[in-house]
Amino acid sequence: MKRNKFLFVKAWRAPRDVLSLMKKKCKGRVLNLCCGDSLIGDVNVDLKPQYPQVIKADILADDFDLKEQFDTVVADPPWNWDYVRRHKFNKVVGKHLKDGGLFILNAPWLPKYKYDILEIYIPFVNGGFQSNITAITIAQKRIKK
Ligand SMILES: C[S@@+](CC[C@H](N)C(=O)[O-])C[C@H]1O[C@@H](n2cnc3c(N)ncnc32)[C@H](O)[C@@H]1O
Repeated sequence: MKRNKFLFVKAWRAPRDVLSLMKKKCKGRVLNLCCGDSLIGDVNVDLKPQYPQVIKADILADDFDLKEQFDTVVADPPWNWDYVRRHKFNKVVGKHLKDGGLFILNAPWLPKYKYDILEIYIPFVNGGFQSNITAITIAQKRIKK
């Protein structure tokens, strides 16, 4: 009898094309928030690290502060975060990003407030597990005058 073959992938992992585009767009020193399985930052942070080099932290905790500002912050956060968590997350990104730095976000929402959106990519989604529309946004933090 012929057996079916299955290929298992982690449903929450960003597709390789998405990760490689995000990585390609980074510049300078990179902070990767909510990194999951993808180590595309110089510094990678997650609540549940999968690798020893990942910093274990709740990035939404009031005392979360790496005491460093980066040239790029890249993030693929949980897509079901409500408005309050998205707002907190935005503040955390702002705190860790240099003026003029890049914020590269893969999410079903766009960066708000202090950012100019440079590019938006809509990845092809085949209607699987999460058939919401998402965008990879490349945004630049405005320089304070
Ligand atoms: C969509 S997954 C990221 C997937 C990643 N891009 C990949 O390809 O593996 C979201 C990640 O956010 C992490 N996360 C959720 N809440 C968090 C929090 N409050 N602080 C830090 N990380 C968090 C989860 O542990 C999970 O790894």
